[in-house]
Amino acid sequence: MSKWLVLLLCLPLFSQSQDIKIIPEPVSITEKTGSVTLNTNSSILVVGNNPDAIRVAKLLSEALSKPTGYKFPVKSGSGSKVAGNNISFQLNSKADESIGKEGYKLTVGTNGINISANTPAGLFYGTQTLIQLLPTEIESKTEVKGVKWTAPAVEISDYPRFGWRGLMFDVSRHFFTKQEVKQYIDDMVKYKYNLLHLHLTDDEGWRVEIKSLPKLTEVGAWNVYKVGTFGNFTAPTPDEPRNFGGFYTQDDIRELVQYAKDRFMNILPEIDIPGHSLAAVASYPELSCTQGSDKYTVHSGEKFMNWTDSGNIALMDNTLCPANENVYAFYDKVFTEIAQLFPFEYIHMGGDECAKNFWKKSDAVAQLMKRENLKDMNEVQSYFVKRIEKIIESKGKKLIGWDEILEGGLAPNAAVMSWRGIKGGIEAAKMGHEVVMSPTTFVYIDYMQADAVIEPPVYATLRLKTSYEFEPVPDGVDPKFVKGGQANLWTEQVYNLRHAQYMTWPRGFAVAEALWSPKEKRNWSDFVPRVEKQFERYDVAEKKYAPSVYDPIFKAEKDSASGKLIVEMSTEIDGLDIFYSFDNSFPDKFYPKYEKPIVVPKDASTMKVITYRNGKPIGRLNVMPVAELEKRATRKRR
Ligand code: ACM
Repeated sequence: MSKWLVLLLCLPLFSQSQDIKIIPEPVSITEKTGSVTLNTNSSILVVGNNPDAIRVAKLLSEALSKPTGYKFPVKSGSGSKVAGNNISFQLNSKADESIGKEGYKLTVGTNGINISANTPAGLFYGTQTLIQLLPTEIESKTEVKGVKWTAPAVEISDYPRFGWRGLMFDVSRHFFTKQEVKQYIDDMVKYKYNLLHLHLTDDEGWRVEIKSLPKLTEVGAWNVYKVGTFGNFTAPTPDEPRNFGGFYTQDDIRELVQYAKDRFMNILPEIDIPGHSLAAVASYPELSCTQGSDKYTVHSGEKFMNWTDSGNIALMDNTLCPANENVYAFYDKVFTEIAQLFPFEYIHMGGDECAKNFWKKSDAVAQLMKRENLKDMNEVQSYFVKRIEKIIESKGKKLIGWDEILEGGLAPNAAVMSWRGIKGGIEAAKMGHEVVMSPTTFVYIDYMQADAVIEPPVYATLRLKTSYEFEPVPDGVDPKFVKGGQANLWTEQVYNLRHAQYMTWPRGFAVAEALWSPKEKRNWSDFVPRVEKQFERYDVAEKKYAPSVYDPIFKAEKDSASGKLIVEMSTEIDGLDIFYSFDNSFPDKFYPKYEKPIVVPKDASTMKVITYRNGKPIGRLNVMPVAELEKRATRKRR
């Protein structure tokens, strides 16, 4: 075999070379010989004078100036070609059909760096790709000396698979400041997300000022500060101050909406009703069917719900009364202000997990059922959603809700966000409704990323590799009804922005790729080194990410003949060595290496495990009690 043939066969099937590691994977990359090195004289030329294109150029100039120390002046005008070490932006005068509304073409070559697009959004996404072509130090918040700021010669043509590329950020369970939300947006746009879904209200807090209903934030934005494992907290006592939380003023919201818009991102506001409404009910008790008979306070993480397969039982009434006309008048006011604040075409009304136990006991609900001929609680909920749809549409907006809004009959024009798997999305799409896919099974980024023995505890696990398998269009569904997808970050157990970053990345990389890149280009073993390149970038940027992909997967079983406890271990990524101990000491590469399922020694109490790569530790120390393995071995398989 010739040397060249060997070389050719060794080339990865999936496009990106050693130097080029981009997430999400572009539609097409052609590598060329040569490179462009930016220097102190480099500038950014905007061909023409489109103000949005100039703004995008200024954002790029800012991003490049800090780490390089160069100025990158933005010039605009009619000069077409730029030489050598400069960057040019060009809005196509005649639309390039091949790249659509958000696509771009990026060329690095003898004429410098050129980005062209049909819209400023396309230019913006081109700049995000360009940043990923530059050395990792480009992510530094301060000047880095001695780096050659070189981008390899390349031709990229790129556009998204879906128009709805979202992340949901729950700012209710824990409040995140306006500045923190901006940082979250900054992180999202790097991976070409274009939608931030803000979960603004829940049992733990109402986070948006409604001027006509001031108690929503005077009372509803505040609970008792507790730290530990949310859901297991002691019930607040009357002497504990209710001063934990916060909210966005309407000016804050306008600022956030503009900040997002400047980065081509929409904000979808969610007002979660008729369940998850304790913050509203605590502020205005007359909204519930049980006013006067229940004592309402904003939830502070104590146990207040029994989750059962046949429906949730609320221990405190956190629902709105669907039989009370004043509730509809109240939410007419809320949605009037929300519609004025958020320009996005949809408003999310939640609709999930509504406990019906208080409705079942309500005379008013019984009368409503009789009057409206509603045969069960699902039809009561459906009645409520249809009334809310009319209100939202009267404000010129479209309604979207979690897939429970299908129960009892879907409102005529509602879009469905499918979270309990994909079946709600399939059902809605088959009825001709718009769908956004965000199933727990692939994109619930509040779940743990590795074993519970190493991760902050949450009730389920979702590994990176599973997130990477997210496919928004199920077989048999007409893709025209699937607007796209999103991952959801619920924040009961997320107390600060560092941890929000940890939970979001790297699974956010996987979801970004599912939503942007062509389906046929997705490939796990090609994705992993690109994720690791992002880890290097995050280290430079001092942003947090989860290294959980390096931690082992445990499987415990009882040998049916001998009754012995057997542990099997594996890793998500190839090329890792697993070392372990049963003698309580810390394993390293001189300890037993895992080769095949092992019998747990009879008297062992703890197994300690660590992964290595190329002789260097890479995973974290996993400390697994043998009692936990015993428990898992006898537990019914899921
Ligand atoms: C949800 O996760 N309750 C939508």
